[in-house]
Amino acid sequence: MQSLLNKKIVLGISGGIAAYKAPELARQLMQEGASVQVVMTEAAQQFVTPVTMQALTGNPVYLNQWDSSIPNNMAHIELSRSADAILIAPTSADLMAKLSLGLADDLLTTLCLARDCPLLLTPAMNKQMWEHAATKRSAKRLLEDGVTLLGPASGFQACGEVGMGRMLEPSEITEQVIAFFQKKSLAGKKVLITAGPTFEAIDPVRGITNHSSGKMGFAIARAAVEAGAQVHLIAGPCGLDTPLLATGQITRTNVVSAKEMHAATLNAPDSDIFFAVAAVADWGIAKPAKDKIKRQGNQAPNLEFVANPDILLDVAKATKTRGGKPYPYCVGFAAESTDLEKHANEKRKRKGIPMIVGNIGPDTFGSDLNQMVVIDASGSKKIAKAEKLQLARQLIQLVAKKI
Ligand code: CTP
Repeated sequence: MQSLLNKKIVLGISGGIAAYKAPELARQLMQEGASVQVVMTEAAQQFVTPVTMQALTGNPVYLNQWDSSIPNNMAHIELSRSADAILIAPTSADLMAKLSLGLADDLLTTLCLARDCPLLLTPAMNKQMWEHAATKRSAKRLLEDGVTLLGPASGFQACGEVGMGRMLEPSEITEQVIAFFQKKSLAGKKVLITAGPTFEAIDPVRGITNHSSGKMGFAIARAAVEAGAQVHLIAGPCGLDTPLLATGQITRTNVVSAKEMHAATLNAPDSDIFFAVAAVADWGIAKPAKDKIKRQGNQAPNLEFVANPDILLDVAKATKTRGGKPYPYCVGFAAESTDLEKHANEKRKRKGIPMIVGNIGPDTFGSDLNQMVVIDASGSKKIAKAEKLQLARQLIQLVAKKI
């Protein structure tokens, strides 16, 4: 799936060492389906060559406003007229200052002033420069002007220091540009999600788990952030990266057992929507051994199981009301081997939740694809086979309408 299909992005590059990441960024934006038109400042050309950018994007690179090859010699107007967004990566402190003042003394700044499309900046500078009052002033003014700032991040800097000011990685920028274009149907909403498997310890080295990869839950977390929500993700052991972490719109708690997941979920701050996507173990081991259980010839140990709490059921039971409306709106998931719709709907009623999503097998676990049926009191709606992120976005839109 290409999330930037038909999007025209003007990629501005200003002078800074992080410009070395611009070619990779251009490639990633194009892989997502965007067409990329590069504009470089004079200083940027000290760090990366126009030929590199031209070869990667397949488009001529614009370097100054005095280009006689453009029919009416109005490159700044032409470029901004057709763009869906101008993205500047890296954005130096100098460029931020100029843009905040509305200066237009080269092609890139003129383009920004003449634009009628969104402007996204990815600041990249040394930490002293980022923390300087003048840069803070520039950032504040730019935000007031409706400009979007992506990052910066904290970390190792080219100058040898560690701190705030590092440009986001190309993959993080691409993820955030994609998010920028999604419908903000959950703006101001809080979303709680459980995802992945749980692991029930037998002894310090062994345990019982399941095949859940966590991909569906993480895709829903990403789609919810894209839709503007503040997300809290409670993840069982699945080793996936937190999506859109750099937005600051997502927090994560890692848990291992079903009991830990239950406690983390029930103690989480109030949310407007709860997605129970985790494949929670129904039983845990009554008394996990403190030390590794040694082999006793051919004798197998007897394991005693105890039932784990039902997280979704308990969240649903604790539903509160605000302005006459119950919250959180609970969405359960069901993987059934027979009579999916019937069993899923029975499960929905049993757990006292408004919506349940049935996974239409067989390749749900671990796969990037899925197929679902969404069931609520009004009936059921199939969502055709697609990548999990695509399904997650559709589900988010459905739920947003319900609340
Ligand atoms: N769930 C939960 N806590 C549990 C078990 C399940 O929160 N201890 C949630 C799952 O995250 C999912 C929904 O309940 O959203 C249904 O999970 P499933 O395992 O299919 O349901 P069970 O109630 O365990 O029913 P069964 O295994 O008998 O089909």
